[in-house]
Amino acid sequence: MRVLVTGGLGFIGSHTVVELQNEGFDVVIIDDLSNSSLEVLDGITSIIGKQPNFEQIDLRDKAAVHQFFKKYSDVSGVIHFAASKAVGESVDNPLLYYENNISSLIYLLQELQKKPEGHFIFSSSCTVYGQAAIMPIAEEAPIQTALSPYGNTKQIGEEIIQDVVKVSNINAILLRYFNPVGAHESINIGELPKGTPQNLIPFITQTAIGLREQLSVFGSDYPTADGTCIRDYIHVVDLAKAHVKALKRLMNKENVEKAEVFNLGTGTGSSVLDVINSFEKVSGKTLNYKIVERRVGDITEAYADTAKANNVLGWNAELTLDDALESAWKWEQKIRK
Ligand code: WQD
Repeated sequence: MRVLVTGGLGFIGSHTVVELQNEGFDVVIIDDLSNSSLEVLDGITSIIGKQPNFEQIDLRDKAAVHQFFKKYSDVSGVIHFAASKAVGESVDNPLLYYENNISSLIYLLQELQKKPEGHFIFSSSCTVYGQAAIMPIAEEAPIQTALSPYGNTKQIGEEIIQDVVKVSNINAILLRYFNPVGAHESINIGELPKGTPQNLIPFITQTAIGLREQLSVFGSDYPTADGTCIRDYIHVVDLAKAHVKALKRLMNKENVEKAEVFNLGTGTGSSVLDVINSFEKVSGKTLNYKIVERRVGDITEAYADTAKANNVLGWNAELTLDDALESAWKWEQKIRK
């Protein structure tokens, strides 16, 4: 079976393509290169020893999506990463997010449901929980009113998929990521944020390498042990392997009435200061940072209850925060050479 990976030149997508190829799947990538580059295709090729098929397509172009499925008529599995994902940008430009993240999903599902069977894996986010009341966060935790249009597109996307699964031959799994970090051990692929990084780890590595003057820690007055926010930082390679597990699960299941949901995290919460201490330990660098005011929209704490992913999906995170930060640092040093 050929598998389509949309956003396959992105951070999580590229690592997932590698793990799919390692497991013998035949992969074709769609990416519009709006937040990635063709160098990533070279990086993937250097790891797996062959270049996956690649099509540069804007998934908002319904006709182009249709043509793709005509050309690649043997695709019956789709892992859908492609989406705009900057929380702050989504507040300023909601229609960009609703058009890009929702219409692309609809066009993919319309094509997949024409097939005798379809397997669909959706890249969702723990952001759908908002600030959950109970830690660790289980899949049954209530979905909170979205704090951003970006988060809303993930919630709407999940609802669309649930409605389609009920009345079609599509089986689906929704994967709610916590905080993906790190880089492949080969250091041939990693995170390539464009412009000023919004996320913590790329800002740390860019500060350590001298690209950024200083890291701002957004608040130290939260109700946590050291006052800084807690997150569940999951190594991107562990996250990629979970997608292969999910695809195999779909391929072995008869048609189901409801898409399964899995939280993907390590189950361990780390504060911002924990991350800084871990980075300084693995890099040997002293990080220049200062505490500033809170960032609007941040929640205090989020880390995953991993029981369902462990026991039902048969997947466990194996790599640690130190492993992730060490690989992220090696990657930063390599791309700035
Ligand atoms: C982590 C912690 C910040 C930068 C976001 C999206 C989520 C998902 C992952 C897509 C927070 C602190 C950060 C900085 C800091 N994306 N921080 N200084 O906000 O948990 O999640 O990315 O799915 O949907 O919301 O990740 O890396 O931005 O922040 O102090 O320069 O680091 O306050 O506590 P976040 P993050």
